[in-house]
Amino acid sequence: MLPESYERVGAVTLAVPNGGDLVDCELHGEAAFQAAAKAQTLRRIELSPYAVSDLVMIATGVLSPLRGFMNRLQYEAVVDNMRLPGGELLGLPVTLPVPRQEAAGLRPDEEVALVCGETAIAIMRIEDVFSYDKQREALAVYGTTDTAHPGVARLFGQPDMLIGGPITLFRRPVSAFSDYEKTPKQLRAEFDSRGWRSVVGFQTRNPIHRAHEYIQKCALEIVDGLLLHPLVGETKADDVSAAVRFKSYEVILTHYYPAHRVILAAFPAAMRYAGPREAVFHAICRRNYGCTHFIVGRDHAGVGDYYGTYAAQDIFSQFHPLELGIQILAFEHAFFCRRCDQMCSSKTCPHSAADHVSLSGSEVRAMLRDNLMPPPQITRPEVAEVLMSADG
Ligand code: ADX
Repeated sequence: MLPESYERVGAVTLAVPNGGDLVDCELHGEAAFQAAAKAQTLRRIELSPYAVSDLVMIATGVLSPLRGFMNRLQYEAVVDNMRLPGGELLGLPVTLPVPRQEAAGLRPDEEVALVCGETAIAIMRIEDVFSYDKQREALAVYGTTDTAHPGVARLFGQPDMLIGGPITLFRRPVSAFSDYEKTPKQLRAEFDSRGWRSVVGFQTRNPIHRAHEYIQKCALEIVDGLLLHPLVGETKADDVSAAVRFKSYEVILTHYYPAHRVILAAFPAAMRYAGPREAVFHAICRRNYGCTHFIVGRDHAGVGDYYGTYAAQDIFSQFHPLELGIQILAFEHAFFCRRCDQMCSSKTCPHSAADHVSLSGSEVRAMLRDNLMPPPQITRPEVAEVLMSADG
């Protein structure tokens, strides 16, 4: 007999990893010890925090089937077509930029040590050292070359050459969120141990607010479990810090969520702000963690006015469900309606905007700065307290 969840949402097993197998390029024990010793003898390449988070994701299979920073073929294919040369969907390029001078000394097939701070953490075998067209990447990935866009600004500011090739990680970098950073293998095991067959993943770079809670709980009505997966990699300076983001989740889980149906874990990625393309990337990553479903709401991974409100949902119509390997749960803009006296969206509420409680992110931030509690229709009081004490 099929599990109950299959009858509800059609998921009989956790998601099959992108490309079929979960990548694992992390060494442990004696093998890690030997790799660390070998790394001492190699040329060192320093990693930015952004590259460190990409490296950890590659090594632990979050970006399966990718086994290293992209070589030229992979880079070109993903920039042009969102897919690796083998056809697997990824959405965004994952690259390791190095300055021209440093690149000039590197040979194909050479092994180099990848360094975080002062410490070597991985070895990479160089397949390719290549130049790339930043304008072209910006247009393809971000849809703009405007340097006011944080993703474009980062791209234009990064070194001019890329090095690609397979990596092995022998020392996991220290993370402030190590208790929460679970690999795809660990999360899959946890889903299994809870008997979950359908799991919805939720991406966020913000503290939780009522609209988030609403769409998460709508999804939770139809699947076995919810993976709350706030991003903890680099974000732009005016985003709320990952520590506060996490605190808001710890608090709200205690008061408003059934513990046995939710897992809170840290997503190590850096934020790209690539809107639709990043929604694809986020979905594929969560597929690799085992999620069968993924939430995409309004302006997912957006910034400013660069993307249409629902562009990050529309992009998924290009893909065959089997190619995507994870089901997208698309949500309309959600808000609190005073007359309905509940959270809703234009799909469920007949009243006009005058009845809706709506505050922009910057209005909420201004209230917090002035030590004013945002209304409970926007933010749970327990979360507002976290935000207010963080701001002060
Ligand atoms: S981001 O990672 O997508 O940039 P954010 O925290 O802003 O993070 O949003 C997390 C998820 O909630 C995204 O899928 C986003 O589309 C969705 N979302 C945020 N606010 C709303 C809202 N008011 N209505 C519907 N979906 C929303």
